[in-house]
Amino acid sequence: MMKHDQAEGLRRKLDSRNHPNNAKTVAVISGKGGVGKSNFALNFSLQLINNGKKVLLFDLDVGMGNIDILLGSRAEKTIVNLFEERLSILDVIEQGPKGLAYIAGGSGLSNFFQMDESDHDYFYEQYKELSLIYDYILFDMGAGVTEDSLFFILASDECIVITTPEPTSVTDAYGMIKHVVNRKQDMPLHVILNRASNYQDGLKALERFKAVVTKFLKVEIQSIGIIPDDRVVTQAIVRQIPYTLYNEKSKAAKALKDITYNYVTHTKQVNRTPSSFVQRLKHLMER
Ligand SMILES: Nc1ncnc2c1ncn2[C@@H]1O[C@H](COP(=O)(O)OP(=O)(O)OP(=O)(O)O)[C@@H](O)[C@H]1O
Ligand SMILES: [Mg+2]
Repeated sequence: MMKHDQAEGLRRKLDSRNHPNNAKTVAVISGKGGVGKSNFALNFSLQLINNGKKVLLFDLDVGMGNIDILLGSRAEKTIVNLFEERLSILDVIEQGPKGLAYIAGGSGLSNFFQMDESDHDYFYEQYKELSLIYDYILFDMGAGVTEDSLFFILASDECIVITTPEPTSVTDAYGMIKHVVNRKQDMPLHVILNRASNYQDGLKALERFKAVVTKFLKVEIQSIGIIPDDRVVTQAIVRQIPYTLYNEKSKAAKALKDITYNYVTHTKQVNRTPSSFVQRLKHLMER
């Protein structure tokens, strides 16, 4: 949990900043459920930290949020407290391993639409503060789309789509991308193939998927990597330790390390300001 003095520390850091940050908001999404979004988001966050980035993982899986379960901790505060008690967003941030910051339990945002304007304004203001502190804010989304979750996705700077090689997962991932590009043609899209039985098969499945997306949706989707199906992942989940910490030498952990390094060194820098996400979300809400 985030102790009061830790929140104070963050606040001081924020006040004394010479170079405010400008977080990139990344939504981790999938069509089908259970394809490995939360495990990817968590371990990717930890690897981004290893690459010197400041990361906040925001559990937006409405009603089913489980980042704290994967970490074996119980969140003291969730986003619900932000609205109900008008807490600062810094006070609902929990501390995970390796300096990972996370916000648990997205159900508080499930009725974002129904909230009144003062709640919306409060959230926008608080989110802007987050953008100044972190390099990356990752949303762990629920599977598929609801009207609210689509807004958070569309307002993000980019999306990482997770799929497994299973045809049902691939088809649903395609459907999900279609939803997004129908509303926002220029959304930067990345894809991760999770649970590949071997690298070659994974690569083939990825190439097929990219080709279908380009042909029928007329957008580019950039592959950022393949994660093998690895029983270390399940072992780590049972022990409630992120797999990249549980066994650094496992195949899955090594894949995550390479993926993150490539991602950090090769992704394009886009123009944005600390309020880009908030402005887009506002705009979507007003329509
Ligand atoms: N690389 C992997 N190798 C082996 N098993 C994996 C791997 N990735 C995920 N899994 C399995 O898939 C399960 C679901 O993973 P996870 O909870 O991350 O998916 P999710 O997409 O977040 O699910 P939901 O849609 O319910 O939020 C895990 O409990 C684990 O058993
Ligand atoms: Mg999940």
